[in-house]
Amino acid sequence: MAEERFIPLAISIALLVVFSSLTTTEAYDSLDPNGNITIKWDIMQWTPDGYVAVVTMFNFQQYRHIQAPGWTLGWSWAKKEVIWSMVGAQTTEQGDCSKYKGNVPHCCKKDPTVVDLLPGTPYNMQIANCCKGGVINSWVQDPSNAASSFQVSVGAAGTTNKTVRVPKNFTLRAPGPGYTCGIANIVKPTKFVTQDGRRTTQALMTWNVTCTYSQFLSQKTPTCCVSLSSFYNDTIVNCPTCTCGCQNNVTHPGSCVEGDSPYLASAVNGPGKNSFTPLVQCTSHMCPIRVHWHVKLNYKEYWRVKVTITNFNYRMNYTQWNLVIQHPNFDNITKLFSFNYKSLTPYSASINDTAMLWGVKFYNDLLMEAGPYGNVQSEFLFKKDQSTFTFDKGWAFPRRIYFNGDNCVMPPPDAYPWLPNAGPRSIVPFSLAITVFWAVLVCLLASI
Ligand SMILES: *[C@@H]1O[C@H](CO)[C@@H](O)[C@H](O)[C@H]1NC(C)=O
Ligand SMILES: *[C@@H]1O[C@H](CO)[C@@H](O)[C@H](O)[C@H]1NC(C)=O
Ligand SMILES: *[C@@H]1O[C@H](CO)[C@@H](O)[C@H](O)[C@H]1NC(C)=O
Ligand SMILES: *[C@@H]1O[C@H](CO)[C@@H](O)[C@H](O)[C@H]1NC(C)=O
Ligand SMILES: *[C@@H]1O[C@H](CO)[C@@H](O)[C@H](O)[C@H]1NC(C)=O
Ligand SMILES: *[C@@H]1O[C@H](CO)[C@@H](O)[C@H](O)[C@H]1NC(C)=O
Ligand SMILES: *[C@@H]1O[C@H](CO)[C@@H](O)[C@H](O)[C@H]1NC(C)=O
Ligand SMILES: *[C@@H]1O[C@H](CO)[C@@H](O)[C@H](O)[C@H]1NC(C)=O
Ligand SMILES: *[C@@H]1O[C@H](CO)[C@@H](O)[C@H](O)[C@H]1NC(C)=O
Repeated sequence: MAEERFIPLAISIALLVVFSSLTTTEAYDSLDPNGNITIKWDIMQWTPDGYVAVVTMFNFQQYRHIQAPGWTLGWSWAKKEVIWSMVGAQTTEQGDCSKYKGNVPHCCKKDPTVVDLLPGTPYNMQIANCCKGGVINSWVQDPSNAASSFQVSVGAAGTTNKTVRVPKNFTLRAPGPGYTCGIANIVKPTKFVTQDGRRTTQALMTWNVTCTYSQFLSQKTPTCCVSLSSFYNDTIVNCPTCTCGCQNNVTHPGSCVEGDSPYLASAVNGPGKNSFTPLVQCTSHMCPIRVHWHVKLNYKEYWRVKVTITNFNYRMNYTQWNLVIQHPNFDNITKLFSFNYKSLTPYSASINDTAMLWGVKFYNDLLMEAGPYGNVQSEFLFKKDQSTFTFDKGWAFPRRIYFNGDNCVMPPPDAYPWLPNAGPRSIVPFSLAITVFWAVLVCLLASI
């Protein structure tokens, strides 16, 4: 039979589809499909042996920001270029400039690594958008602080738009891994409009590079988990055990510290202090961040949720933190207390089931290190749509949550708190997926 030859093919196609969808959920962010960091080089001036360029990084990501200790940008020169000087940033190493007599370049490395200057840099060493210690805010939270710039004076380079070579192998660390940068493309020269809007100037030449983020590259283990509770059931569904790691006295002594340990202070200042590896409080999930969703009250036309973010990391104050939550009732959120809010509409303007939340400046935009102050909280008031609203089947719980752009691991759906008298539920979505999968396979085979 001819069909038999196609069975292995059909199965491998089906498996391929299943596996690729599993891996792409990590590399591609469906809630921010166009999110990227674009690095733009504008050549402003030719010099006797090269050019002066202004390099700007735009964070076009809706909710992913770069927090302290900030970005690190690297690239490889295409020829033997050197950096004569920089304004608003610096290279971490000078490299071997022994070839140069008299004027010594700022950096002679083939692959320079650049970091931002710190706030408080003298004015004559600044340019616009520089000197924020490498911190870049997200596009939704603060578009006016979503870019970072520096000026670089390049020597031993081409001096016309025909002889200049674009740098290669751009790398962006924030400060850890996670970003992948594409190649530099020469684009239309940027136009600059003067402040009074009466004159437009333009760059002599422009190229830009796009870098995209993948949580999968960034870290193998999750960093955040979700716990759930409700007024109608005493059960508190904790984060899944070992979500971010397991407490293990034998192989990893000191992998976590007890909150009341007398050695807490010495552990916090111990080895790893400056490496930004988390030092977490001992919990069953071992995550640095836990988001708790509590279904608090039920009114006739409204219902109320309390959300608490808890920091279990003794080595991190999260500045400008943000949360992205997907729940169908965000289309009708009525009131939200003590957080900023913006509706994200990743698919189309008609589905606004996703909200981005962040702290109020000077009030709770800093999520303090683990300890008594290491949490922030808010309450949401939703208006019920009687046709969809229910406390049954875990509907009142969020579909997904991101903290600072990283996915928070949810408890398994069959563990959600039940309404009293509701029978155990079968795990519908998974068996449904299998059924659909086999149905598609059968159709595929039948059509051959
Ligand atoms: C990067 O983001 C900008 C702004 O959202 C968008 O216009 C551009 O197409 C994106 N680039 C890529 C390569 O996705
Ligand atoms: C270089 O400059 C010339 C004239 O100024 C222009 O016609 C050409 O398009 C430019 N090429 C690039 C790659 O920008
Ligand atoms: C860019 O990176 C690739 C792979 O890492 C390497 O083979 C290549 O030599 C690098 N190019 C430059 C100009 O450094
Ligand atoms: C970078 O180049 C791409 C491709 O030409 C363009 O679509 C995009 O708008 C550019 N980004 C910036 C910030 O100029
Ligand atoms: C780790 O070891 C100590 C002493 O051996 C014990 O008291 C403690 O309960 C252990 N912790 C865990 C999480 O196993
Ligand atoms: C967090 O901020 C507080 C207050 O500003 C400071 O005392 C503490 O050292 C900071 N902790 C870390 C880990 O940076
Ligand atoms: C959600 O979208 C609907 C229609 O598109 C609009 O009427 C409603 O105000 C939006 N709700 C929020 C909270 O943005
Ligand atoms: C919001 O709730 C009202 C009342 O239940 C309902 O009529 C309306 O369709 C809801 N809006 C959206 C965007 O779902
Ligand atoms: C509360 O929910 C749990 C499932 O998480 C269930 O085992 C328990 O029976 C429920 N309690 C009541 C009173 O329904």
